[in-house]
Amino acid sequence: MRTRARLAGLTALSTVALAIGASAQQTPPASPPISAKALDQASAQPESGDWRNAQPVMAPHAMVVAAQHLATDVGVRILQEGGNAVDAAVAVGYAEAVTHPCCGNIGGGGFMVVHLASGKNLFLDFREKAPLKATATIFQDEDGNVVPGRSTGTWLGVGVPGTVMGLNEALAKYGTMPLKKVIAPAIALAEKGYVLAPGDVKIMDNRVKDFAQEPNVAPIFLNHGQPWKAGDRLVQTNLAKTLKRIASKGTKAFYSGPIAEKMVQASQAGGGLFTMKDFADYTVNWDTPVTCTYRGYQIIAAPPPSSGGTTVCEILKTVEGYPLGQYGFGSVEATHYVVEAERRAFADRNTDLGDPAFVHNPVARLISPEHAAKLRASILPDKATPSSEIKGGVSATEGIDTTHFSVVDAQGNAVAVTYTLNYLFGVGKMAGDTGFFLNNEMDDFTSKPGVPNGFGLVQGAANAVAPGKRPLSSMSPTIVLRPDGKVLMVTGSPGGSTIITTVAQTIMNVIDYGMNVQQAIDAPRFHHQWLPDTVLVEPGYLTPDTQAKLEAMGYSFHPIAAIGADEAIVVDPKTGMLHGANDRRRPAGEAKGY
Ligand code: DON
Repeated sequence: MRTRARLAGLTALSTVALAIGASAQQTPPASPPISAKALDQASAQPESGDWRNAQPVMAPHAMVVAAQHLATDVGVRILQEGGNAVDAAVAVGYAEAVTHPCCGNIGGGGFMVVHLASGKNLFLDFREKAPLKATATIFQDEDGNVVPGRSTGTWLGVGVPGTVMGLNEALAKYGTMPLKKVIAPAIALAEKGYVLAPGDVKIMDNRVKDFAQEPNVAPIFLNHGQPWKAGDRLVQTNLAKTLKRIASKGTKAFYSGPIAEKMVQASQAGGGLFTMKDFADYTVNWDTPVTCTYRGYQIIAAPPPSSGGTTVCEILKTVEGYPLGQYGFGSVEATHYVVEAERRAFADRNTDLGDPAFVHNPVARLISPEHAAKLRASILPDKATPSSEIKGGVSATEGIDTTHFSVVDAQGNAVAVTYTLNYLFGVGKMAGDTGFFLNNEMDDFTSKPGVPNGFGLVQGAANAVAPGKRPLSSMSPTIVLRPDGKVLMVTGSPGGSTIITTVAQTIMNVIDYGMNVQQAIDAPRFHHQWLPDTVLVEPGYLTPDTQAKLEAMGYSFHPIAAIGADEAIVVDPKTGMLHGANDRRRPAGEAKGY
C-alpha cells in the first residue's frame, strides 16, 4: 500500500489552516533563487494531509523505498528471490531509468553508499566527468560573461555519464546475481511499457514543450504530440534495445561501440565536446565514506566530489551543541541555530570543495568538533548573521533532477543511492535512437566564480570546469548507524543544493525530535545556502508567530512549494522492524518490504 494512503485523514479545521497557510505563502516571489526548471515544483506539491499523523510502511525482513512504485516492486522481487541489497539496488537503478525517466537514468551519474552487515562501509563514485575538451571558460562568452542556458540547455552541458559503469561495478563487486537477471525487469518495463501514474505524468508535464523540440524524443515522450495522461501506457522500445545491449555485453556496451558512437555523433553535431576517448577513459571510484558522529550515532556519507557528506556533517556537528529536542521542531530557537549552521556550512562548501582528483578538500577540518565550536562561537543567540559577514572565498582570484532510493536486506546490508540527470530529464536531449536522456550535470560546475548556477549556488574556483573533472555535487546518500554499529537509518533526496538540508533535517527529525520516519520526511522543511541570503520555507513550517519573531531577528523567508523528496528507511532498534517511508512530495513512489 502506498505510504501516502496512510496519511491520516484531515479534519475540517486543519484543511482550512493548511489552505490559509498555502495561499498566504504563495505570493509570487520576486526573484526565484533556484531555477524553476531545476526543481519539479508542479510534481512536488505535497499531498494535503497532516504529516504529524503519518505512519511508515513496516516489514520484518527487508525494505525498498524508491520514487517510483514499479521500481520499488522490482527491488522487492529481487530481494525475495534471494538477492542482497546491492542486487536490489542495481535492479532498482535500471528500473528507474525506465519508470522514472526524469531522474532515474543511464545517461547521468551518481553515488552509492553501502553498509555491509560485516561492518564495512563503502562509497562508490559514478559521477559524470567533464569531456576532455572542456575548459574553465566554456560557459562564458568572449567578454567573460556567463551565457545563460549554455550549461543547462546545450550539448556543452552534458557530462560523460557514469551510471552504467557504476551500477555494473557495484553488482560485480558486492552483488550476488548476474547483470542479465537484475536488468531484466527494466528491459521488460521498457519493452512492454508501463501504466503512467498521476505522479509520473505531473513530472513529465514540466518539460512537454522541450520534448516537442526534439525529433527523437517527441515520438516517445509525447502521445501524437500531446502530453501523456495518467492511465496511458508508456512504451520505450529504443531504450529496451539499449538495455538489452548492456545486458548482453556489459559495461563496454555503453563506453565503446554503437551507443558511445551515437552519443559522440549527437554531441558533435550539436556543438558539444564528446569524443570516443571521453568514454574510453571514463572510470568509477571506490572511496572511503565521510564519517562523523551525531549525538552518539555514526553518519556514513558521501565524500567529494559530493559536497553532501561533508556539508551534512558540518551542519550536524554545529547543531550538536544546541538542545534542538528541548527547543522543539519548528521553534524559533531550533530554526535560528539550524539556519545559521546551514549558512556557514554552505559558505565552506561553495568555497572549498571540488573534485578530489583536482583540488585538495579540507574535509577533516570542516567536519571537526573544533571547526563546529568556532562556527558556534560566531552565532549570536538572538540575531541572524548576514551572509555578507560570513567569509567565503568565492572570487575570481582564488585559486545541485535527481532521485534517491534506499534498500535494507534481510542480512542487514544497507544501500543508499542518489543518481541524477541534474534537471528533470537532464538536458532534454537523446543521442539518436538510444532512447535515454542525457544529463546537464556540467551546470554543477562554477561557470564563473561568483555567478550562481541553476540551484542558485555561488561557487568558487575549486569547482571550476577542467578536462576530465567531476562537478561538485550536493547528492547525499547517507546511512546512519547506531552506537552498536547496526543500521538505524538509510536516507537521501533529490533537490540540488536543498538535498543537503533535507538529509540533515531528516536526521534531526528522527534523532532530535523522535519522529517516526514517515513524519520525519513528510515534515515541512526550510533551507539556507549562504547565498542568496534568504530562507526557503515550505508551507506549514512557520506559524505566523515564529515567522514574526524570526523576521525581527533579521531573517527573510522565501516560500517554496516543496524542498527535497527523501526516500528513507529506519530500523526500529527495539523490534528490528523495518520502517519505510516514501516522501509525499513524490507521490508515484512507494515504500515496500516483506
Ligand atoms: O549533483 C547535484 O548536486 C545536482 N546535479 C543534483 C540535481 C538535483 O537534485 C535536481 N533535483 N531536484
